[in-house]
Amino acid sequence: MALKIVLSNRKGGVGKTTTAVNLAADLASLGYRVLAMDFDPQSNLTISFGINILSLQSSLADVFQNSRAMEDIVLNRYPNLDVIPSTPDLEKAIEGGYVANHLRKNEIIKFKLQDMQTEYDFIVIDTPPTKGLLTMNSLSVADFVVIPCRPDHLSIVGLKQMHDLIMEVRGQWLNPGIRLLGILGTFNEETRDCREHINIINGSMFKDYLFDTKIRKNVTLSESVSKGTPIIHFNKRCHGHEDYDAFTHELLGKLEGNSCQR
Ligand SMILES: Nc1ncnc2c1ncn2[C@@H]1O[C@H](COP(=O)(O)OP(=O)(O)O)[C@@H](O)[C@H]1O
Ligand SMILES: [Mg+2]
Repeated sequence: MALKIVLSNRKGGVGKTTTAVNLAADLASLGYRVLAMDFDPQSNLTISFGINILSLQSSLADVFQNSRAMEDIVLNRYPNLDVIPSTPDLEKAIEGGYVANHLRKNEIIKFKLQDMQTEYDFIVIDTPPTKGLLTMNSLSVADFVVIPCRPDHLSIVGLKQMHDLIMEVRGQWLNPGIRLLGILGTFNEETRDCREHINIINGSMFKDYLFDTKIRKNVTLSESVSKGTPIIHFNKRCHGHEDYDAFTHELLGKLEGNSCQR
């Protein structure tokens, strides 16, 4: 059974998509079978994998609308790495009431994932920065949540909101088994301001959750997005690759500690 890891933060621009793309690609390069799912109508993960959303015949919206099965829309991008793409049509699926908003219906997306779960070691899910139905659906299937967080005041405030959301998902019995795996510091810089914000997290209720690895600010990471290529396949000699590689190994170690590594 695949382990399902959701990248989530109610704040935008914190590195959710960049982390989902590069974690998925790194895990696949280590030989794990990986499915990357785009739960965001902005389709940034889909685009970051070099998929042209304008030419897609079908996407996650069709699965919610019951016109396609999940396995019909899977695209293979790299060895061991498949993608479930999204398009802005996902917004229409929500407006049309196709995305579940209560317990019974939330189980539909779980059900739709069911057949896929045996085919992968990891399912990595990228989410929008809202507490909307797509985020709730993705949290309802997650084993673990990773919260990418920028070292600034508002992002740290967002951590508490995210923690409360995880508690809500657990409390409503949408997904009693969901766990926060860790908080990943992104856009890291060797500045006093940055260090101070990391210290704030270290002095808070989240201190035990902070990954040792920090993702440095690195322009090559955004360049790789515009080329539709994960950093490992774009430029292995940059900080961006070095940091995501270290993060992937640290994450695997944490999962081993949770005795659930594949
Ligand atoms: N470590 C980084 N260094 C520099 N730019 C980054 C880094 N991580 C992400 N970016 C860029 O910042 C923007 C926001 O990142 P993204 O992953 O899309 O955030 P989110 O999904 O949380 O909105 C994108 O343009 C991305 O290419
Ligand atoms: Mg994003």
